[in-house]
Amino acid sequence: MSKIKKAFFCKQCGYESPKWTGKCPACNEWNTFTEEIIHKEQPQSKESWKENQQNKSIVLQEVVAEEKQRIITKDDELNRVLGGGIVLGSLVLVAGEPGIGKSTLFLQDALMMHDLKILYVSGEESEQQIKMRANRINIQHDEFYILTETSTQSVFQEIKKIKPDLVIIDSIQTIQSPYLDSSPGTISQIRECTAEFQRFAKETQTPVFLIGHITKEGTIAGPKLLEHMVDTVLQFEGDQHYAYRILRTTKNRFGSTAELGIYEMTGTGMKPVSNPSDILINQKEEQLSGIAIGSTMEGLRPLLIEVQALVTPSVYGTPQRTASGFDLRRLQLLLAVLEKRGGFHFGTKDVFVNIAGGLKIEDPAIDLAMVFALLSSYEDIPLSQKICFAGEIGLSGEIRAVNRVDQRISEAEKLGFESIYISKYNRKSEPHKGIKTISVALIEEVYRTIFK
Ligand code: TYD
Ligand code: MG
Repeated sequence: MSKIKKAFFCKQCGYESPKWTGKCPACNEWNTFTEEIIHKEQPQSKESWKENQQNKSIVLQEVVAEEKQRIITKDDELNRVLGGGIVLGSLVLVAGEPGIGKSTLFLQDALMMHDLKILYVSGEESEQQIKMRANRINIQHDEFYILTETSTQSVFQEIKKIKPDLVIIDSIQTIQSPYLDSSPGTISQIRECTAEFQRFAKETQTPVFLIGHITKEGTIAGPKLLEHMVDTVLQFEGDQHYAYRILRTTKNRFGSTAELGIYEMTGTGMKPVSNPSDILINQKEEQLSGIAIGSTMEGLRPLLIEVQALVTPSVYGTPQRTASGFDLRRLQLLLAVLEKRGGFHFGTKDVFVNIAGGLKIEDPAIDLAMVFALLSSYEDIPLSQKICFAGEIGLSGEIRAVNRVDQRISEAEKLGFESIYISKYNRKSEPHKGIKTISVALIEEVYRTIFK
């Protein structure tokens, strides 16, 4: 005998409540509760994934902890982001906006694993659509199985038959457990299906990738709620209008979360970008004012990027400030510092800044490049393309030290820059022969050497 059971769930954080409430007591969001039927079958008839379930407590000293085995994929960016390859038995969530290229990337990476048996479960696309995408990517694989199923029970039946080495679920929002009455994509379904895949992954040591959508606001059930349940969360992001995609970890039980991979979307799939600075800096023939090259760290990798600024006389009473890829409040702060400490009159100017390539930069080390892009546009004097900057600006106009300065200098050296401006408070631990490092303490010093 079974009885219908209903509950209310918060769409934001997955909090469960027996009755409706306006404000979620867990995450304090308003109007996020929806009612869902959670008609569970009797436990004894439940057979989602169970092999040998015997729970015993064990003394910690008796636990043998060996280094987790990993599958090293052919995609170095993915390996790095995962902390050195795919850990056996791990459950990885890949979250990203629709259309960003999640299916493309994981289809492509799986097709490159020639010695593994892969099961690709798609609840969104037909076999033909997947085949068409695979044709575009143009990689052959003999043991790549496609299953267009949405029920976890059928998926597990197929898994028992094929015995794959890696399972990809595209996407978790389309999968449904037959043990729950609610429709796919609802919080209770997502939670139940993930739990089933988690049990499967842990018991069979098969890695499982769950692909999940998030909306522009990052809300909607799913990824947010799933983050607690999975071992690793990979965030796939980028601007639809640019070809660059960034894969970063926001949670990783088996590695660092500071790593990041960069890809370029091409007509034939995703191409890993091993030297991003090369692409992000346009080597222009003519000298233009308002451009400065700054050094930033993306994860543990140094990256040189182009900072662009445009300073024009203001037409209206209130000057405009627009920033893309850079924090607007940080820009206002830098302008205030230049106004007060340097005597530049930005108060009567409109200021527009942009980070080339559609990247969003949060690294404060980009401040110095931003200041000199602004000053270059203000003075309408182009900067040399052979110099770059790495420094944070303090409120009194001082240039502050940045982290990993040696790596930043080496990257600039590798790319053929002649000199790099860094803070005098930065200690270098290695000598750099191919590039001149200029240590400075104040903006005025740099201003005097550059604009004479
Ligand atoms: P897709 O992987 O379907 O995105 P997601 O699974 O995250 O929703 O990819 C979406 C876009 O990628 C689509 O607009 C087409 C484009 N694309 C390319 O530009 N090159 C390619 O080789 C492929 C397969 C797709
Ligand atoms: Mg997709």
